[in-house]
Amino acid sequence: MSPAGERRSWWRDAVMYQIYPRSFQDANGDGVGDLPGIIQRLDYLRALGVDALWLSPIYPSPMRDFGYDVADYTAISPQFGTMDDFRALLAAAHARGLRLLLDLVMNHTSDQHPWFLESATSRENPKRDWYLWREGKPGRNGRPSPPNNWQSVIGGSAWQWDERTGQYYLHSFLKEQPDLNWRNPTVRAAMMDVIRYWLEMGVDGFRLDVANCFLKDETLRDNPRRVFGLRPYDRQRHLYELNQPENLDIMRQIRATVDAYTGRVTIGEIYALPPGDTALSAAYYVGGEGLHMAFDFAFLFSPWRADAFARAIDRWERALDPDHEPYLWPNFTLSNHDQPRAISRYATARGEETLARARVAAALLLTLRGTPFIYYGEEIGIRNGRIRRSRIQDPFGKPYWPIYKGRDGERTPMQWSAEPEGGFTTGAPWLPVNPDAARVNVAAQQDDPTSLLNWYRALIALRKREPALRAGSYRRVSVSGSRALCYLRETAGQRILVALNFARNAHTIALPDEGTWRVLLGSQQPEEKALEGGALTLPGYGIVIARAVS
Ligand code: GLC
Repeated sequence: MSPAGERRSWWRDAVMYQIYPRSFQDANGDGVGDLPGIIQRLDYLRALGVDALWLSPIYPSPMRDFGYDVADYTAISPQFGTMDDFRALLAAAHARGLRLLLDLVMNHTSDQHPWFLESATSRENPKRDWYLWREGKPGRNGRPSPPNNWQSVIGGSAWQWDERTGQYYLHSFLKEQPDLNWRNPTVRAAMMDVIRYWLEMGVDGFRLDVANCFLKDETLRDNPRRVFGLRPYDRQRHLYELNQPENLDIMRQIRATVDAYTGRVTIGEIYALPPGDTALSAAYYVGGEGLHMAFDFAFLFSPWRADAFARAIDRWERALDPDHEPYLWPNFTLSNHDQPRAISRYATARGEETLARARVAAALLLTLRGTPFIYYGEEIGIRNGRIRRSRIQDPFGKPYWPIYKGRDGERTPMQWSAEPEGGFTTGAPWLPVNPDAARVNVAAQQDDPTSLLNWYRALIALRKREPALRAGSYRRVSVSGSRALCYLRETAGQRILVALNFARNAHTIALPDEGTWRVLLGSQQPEEKALEGGALTLPGYGIVIARAVS
């Protein structure tokens, strides 16, 4: 598709919403969210105003990594429902104008996937080369040691010894998640079939799990060491198992497969953590006919400072280089299923202040140039859950207790109402519902014009109404240290000013021109007042979104 044609694609104008299906809505009372549950809540999502839903994995899985360990790419886990349920969800979503994206986890499979079970039977098995099996190095006492020094993300060597065939296999994550061999053309072909299977069914696109990990250095060189880092994984520079140059070829192949169908989208999860320019890593995968979008997770690691957010935006804008390739498109996200929720990251001791920050963060997310991704429950201010050790489910946390308790906190059930278990389930929820659910829930916020939920709705509606907020350029007007950020979004015919006060105290910013600005949305009532003159005083955590009146 030509860049010009692509510029009008739906996903650039869309607001995306990530659902963690286990935790969204349980319809059958088993304590785990499911597809019929999501169907029940589609009207809620439509009223929120989002355009597309991304579902974390719903495929059959032993659930060692809660679905990110796939045992069958073209079926539905019975925990979530049936293929008929999925078709019904797709149809019901489409009937409401909502698009549906699936999460494709293709770097690795589950160790229970038939491909791996076969591959593990013998060295001669035709599927042996579908995974990364290697001889050990001679170790102490004649026992083999791992082929190289690569670490799994969750701790320990990335190589697992297999007694039966006397070789190691590579697992970048859990040992129950063996990495596929993407250098094998048969593996690639099988995965393209998976992609086509869902596209044929009408799925609108994919989030690609750890898209920069697929290819590994062919000669398996040792990673150089780094001095600092919490986990052994952090004490290496990941030169040889991440971002291999040929990895982009795979993304191009995926892109070409997807582009054979109209109107579909790909968004890559780029596994890149600070320090380091995460935007540059992400941008690499959207350039050169790569993916439509890639996540830069800089916001997930940004401290609560206006200048830190401004820097993250600048880096992303610069990395995507809008002057040269204006069709490379950014996106922004505050939270996901792998990192503590933004509202808790930015919480202070005072509840009101925490909420005020959540409003500023939402205004930022929904007025930037780039597709916003909302994480379920963010719109009502669900906090990170505090999970007792005995109830921790996420295996990623276990090697690092007590400093890191894993990712359950950001995965607690959606809080729908003041009913028992927040209206999420009639059974026993798989993770505890936050104790504040009786107060913080959709039902309580639905009709309250001052609620966070209605703030999200208003921002989304505004983004829909104002072309400059969707498609306009981004230009920073000012950033006052940690305190305030002000920028313009401009199209040929429209100019919108966004001013955000990140601080508790009032702050005055200079407006870009003398003209008159009509406030479209703000943190203070009444909203419809004109700003005159060259300066604007924002109260603590004040927000103004205004349009230039010519
Ligand atoms: C991605 C997912 C994460 C998962 C990991 C392994 O980072 O977001 O949840 O555990 O990949 O698939």
